[in-house]
Amino acid sequence: SKVTFDYSKAAPFIGAHEVDFMKKQVMDARELLVSKTGAGNDFLGWIDLPVDYDKEEFDRIKKAAAKIQSDSEVLLVIGIGGSYLGARAAIEFLRHSFYNSVSKEIRKTPEIYFVGNSISSTYIRHLIDVIGDRDFSINMISKSGTTTEPAIAFRVFKEMMEMKYGKKEAAGRIYATTDRAKGSLKGLATEEGYESFVVPDDVGGRFSVLTAVGLLPIAVSGADIDKLMEGAADGRKKALEAEYEDNDALKYAAVRNILHRKGKSVEILANYEPSVHYVSEWWKQLYGESEGKDQKGIFPASVDLTTDLHSMGQFIQDGSRIMFETVINVETSREEITINEEPVDLDGLNYLAGKSVDFVNKSAMNGTILAHTDGQVPNLMIDVPEVNEFYLGQLFYFFEFACGVSGYLLGVNPFNQPGVESYKKNMFALLGKPGYEAQREELLKRL
Ligand code: PA5
Repeated sequence: SKVTFDYSKAAPFIGAHEVDFMKKQVMDARELLVSKTGAGNDFLGWIDLPVDYDKEEFDRIKKAAAKIQSDSEVLLVIGIGGSYLGARAAIEFLRHSFYNSVSKEIRKTPEIYFVGNSISSTYIRHLIDVIGDRDFSINMISKSGTTTEPAIAFRVFKEMMEMKYGKKEAAGRIYATTDRAKGSLKGLATEEGYESFVVPDDVGGRFSVLTAVGLLPIAVSGADIDKLMEGAADGRKKALEAEYEDNDALKYAAVRNILHRKGKSVEILANYEPSVHYVSEWWKQLYGESEGKDQKGIFPASVDLTTDLHSMGQFIQDGSRIMFETVINVETSREEITINEEPVDLDGLNYLAGKSVDFVNKSAMNGTILAHTDGQVPNLMIDVPEVNEFYLGQLFYFFEFACGVSGYLLGVNPFNQPGVESYKKNMFALLGKPGYEAQREELLKRL
């Protein structure tokens, strides 16, 4: 079994011939990608990453993870966007639902907190409270080495660490994941002697989960990064080698573009397992930042179900008909709970006695798919056979490859993010950063 894409439930909205008709366009987009001749072709290092990565560094990642596990009760992972979401997605998907709060006997590995993904002083102060006087390590992740959010958090926690351990021991507890040669984080790491890991030049943030960016925090959490890479390598083989007719990544790219051209401008990624929440957050960045440009793109949204059926369900069923829905279905639940019979059926649930909670969850899912389809929301499905590193690796690669093809189909450069700079310019001007004086005057007049 493998991660599979199934659009059979969208049959009322897409004729089989439509997917055939897309073949030439999809194959052309695929060719642009794999021949590395399209826009953004200097950011395609992720295509071969699962088979062509730095093995020596991979070993160092495992060693660093083992050291952190042995000398720290807490790991702080500092990063934002592509330097944040992949690790969080993997850890929340693979590990205990209450990873940080469950007992150490069950978790076995350090608590892991993510910071530097906002500019909230309250969040930082509260995290300081959580660390208390316990031993901790820091993984500071920034490809550019200059992003404001993580840089601010790093200043605070570096100071805390140096106060606690002294400069020398602190340096042994700080791990920097950044560019091979440039940026202020690289300079700092060299100056202070931090162990460094590399974000390859040709891998953009949102495609970097299978580099040290994702791998070090994932390894610290106790997840098996060898299996993750194996799954990604398997996903790569399928994406690169399967014919169009049997190629799930190509068909996902085709089908979402067919629906887009029919006026569906929003794709909602839905899940029925809370542990998938951050996979959706990672996916939103991947697709949103890759496709949302030149006033084009499908808006990537997400819901956690059945939770959000009680908040967003009304809109999906019955509001503006602007969306299609892609369900991530974890086929086999990790844990099983059976609903027991009660002598007096006060809550009226005895009709479920002997059934599993997951049976109820799957029934909710199937019922919802049909209801939303009846409500004119085309439903696609991505099946994940079970929760493990191998299938997560497949899933990451499936989404990345489909994203590259889909972006070329849309006619954009899927590998840049020029729009991310606008807020930064304004923020720097308002903060009084040297060099932004003229913009500052303009902006202050407008506020
Ligand atoms: O995908 C991207 O390029 C962004 O989301 C970046 O990952 C994010 O801005 C963080 O950048 P950096 O790793 O340079 O700090």
